[in-house]
Amino acid sequence: MKNFLEVNNLNVAFPTEDGLVRATNEVSFSVARGETLAVVGESGSGKSVSSLAVMGLHNRKTAQITGSAILNLESGPVDVISADEEVVRRMRGKEMAMIFQDPMSALHPYYSIGDQLSEAWRLYNEGSKADGIKRATEMLDLVGIPNAAKRVTEFPHQFSGGMRQRVMIAMALINNPSLLIADEPTTALDVTVQAQILKLIRDLQIEFNMAVILITHDLGVVAEVADRVNVMYAGRIVEQAKIDDAFYSPDHPYTIGLLQSIPRVGKQQRLHAIPGQPPSLINLPEGCSFRARCEYSNQVSGNLCATKMPALQEKIAGHLSRCHLEESQLKKAREAVK
Ligand SMILES: Nc1ncnc2c1ncn2[C@@H]1O[C@H](COP(=O)(O)OP(=O)(O)OP(=O)(O)O)[C@@H](O)[C@H]1O
Ligand SMILES: [Mg+2]
Repeated sequence: MKNFLEVNNLNVAFPTEDGLVRATNEVSFSVARGETLAVVGESGSGKSVSSLAVMGLHNRKTAQITGSAILNLESGPVDVISADEEVVRRMRGKEMAMIFQDPMSALHPYYSIGDQLSEAWRLYNEGSKADGIKRATEMLDLVGIPNAAKRVTEFPHQFSGGMRQRVMIAMALINNPSLLIADEPTTALDVTVQAQILKLIRDLQIEFNMAVILITHDLGVVAEVADRVNVMYAGRIVEQAKIDDAFYSPDHPYTIGLLQSIPRVGKQQRLHAIPGQPPSLINLPEGCSFRARCEYSNQVSGNLCATKMPALQEKIAGHLSRCHLEESQLKKAREAVK
């Protein structure tokens, strides 16, 4: 399976008055059509920043971006990071689309849903406004909004949170993109609606053979819908694995900590939050970024965790992690999750 998206050594930094914020560092991953890659990690770990880079949405005048994010289009590969901004603008919405964290901020309050969807469609299609509204109505129908013909004339504030999120999905998919990035698409919704939206994304992914990147805080969601996962910490990928490997054989203490923090069905267990906070992205410490919060760093000899950033190593095919612990030590650490 050829990858649709290949991100290589992506670094995004923002100069600020306090110093350079290194929001993502050496981020590399790929996603194929039909595949769902989950991205997890605490707030501020670089999930949105790396996705916005793939969408070409950072301001090139202010953000410092290096590395590449290659989309393998039918017409040939295009690197979003180095391509002309006009080329990227034309690809956005058509080749790659994103559902944002806050759907209200992405919808215009003064235009009807139909007008907004229709405009999005007409950017890439020859057609009258009436054709656009027809297409908008079909999309609302496709994402499960009842009475689409009427609702297409309504405004964002007339939709509930779950319905608004469906509108955002319709907007993102109206031009049949090959890559969909969904940034916490269900965080604000109640559990039943969450499940419906995730199922909708999954169904549409299968129907259109899309590559999907799903950003979430929720490991339960990951287990349910993703094929692989990137675990991010302080701007870096600390573990990358197939879902079963990540859940049953995690290779990084941070992943182990995250797994300990999900309640298990049928098991009385206290919720475990990882104590402490991530380091400042302006002054990243020497050595491993997770060291200050890691229960196991004292087991590594030679003070290595404090002096050397572990490389992202592939121990078995497709399973990578950044940690100095030996396999025997990890094996013990994994016991904490069971
Ligand atoms: N334009 C910017 N200027 C300066 N710093 C920024 C900018 N955009 C993002 N950051 C910083 O980059 C870091 C990564 O942010 P990002 O939005 O990717 O986090 P996230 O993992 O998506 O978190 P959350 O789960 O809260 O959405 C944060 O520390 C954030 O404050
Ligand atoms: Mg985010």
